[in-house]
Amino acid sequence: MIKEFLYIANWKAYFTHNEVSTWMTQYKNQLVSLSVNKSVVICPSFTEITTINAWLKDTDIKLGAQDCAPELTGAYTGQVSASSLKELGCDYCIIGHSEQRNHQSDGIIADKAQVLISQGITPIICVGETHEQREALQTNQVIKNQLESILKLNMNNLQPIIAYEPIWAIGTGILPTNTQIIKAIDFIKSCFESTDIRMIYGGSITSETSEALKEIENLDGFLIGKASTDIQELEKIV
Ligand code: PGA
Repeated sequence: MIKEFLYIANWKAYFTHNEVSTWMTQYKNQLVSLSVNKSVVICPSFTEITTINAWLKDTDIKLGAQDCAPELTGAYTGQVSASSLKELGCDYCIIGHSEQRNHQSDGIIADKAQVLISQGITPIICVGETHEQREALQTNQVIKNQLESILKLNMNNLQPIIAYEPIWAIGTGILPTNTQIIKAIDFIKSCFESTDIRMIYGGSITSETSEALKEIENLDGFLIGKASTDIQELEKIV
């Protein structure tokens, strides 16, 4: 399978509906140009998925969601099913993001991965440690626990994406060293029997930090938060 470097934009809750329309009106052409021959995925909030799908329908830019319900249907107030996401045009879905993980067990995140896989949606599974856990030399153990249920899943020929997102690096402007990232990536890869996973990094990626990060061998992409909402920044990063 060809591995392309992925640029996944996690738009979190940065934009309202009207702001998304304004953004696309102003920057769609620039977004399309920067995405030529690149793999770019936009992950907006649920309410904006349909709007962005309409804006990007004639382009190669892919669409992702930021979470999903752990079952295809059921009593999950406030959540959106993987089958809905599929119907709305999502090819990817972030799960286990640290801004969500506190409310969810590792098993629930594995359930989410499984329903996504059943719908042919590639899960982007976030793992990573807190600052305290790193200081206590627990990074590998924390990641191992987060991955335990994931490792038992039948991936159905989908190549999952694991995003190493150290919690202390998200939105803080503090970046791990390349060596720290490489160690985490190598450890994550060693947990999987198959080497057929894609490893991306996320946390405080900007146009200033992205160049050095791209030197990391075996890195298959970036999960970009705040900087991905700024077209100038995104253009420089890509
Ligand atoms: P950040 O967020 O780039 O704003 O640090 C990354 C993420 O949370 O995915």
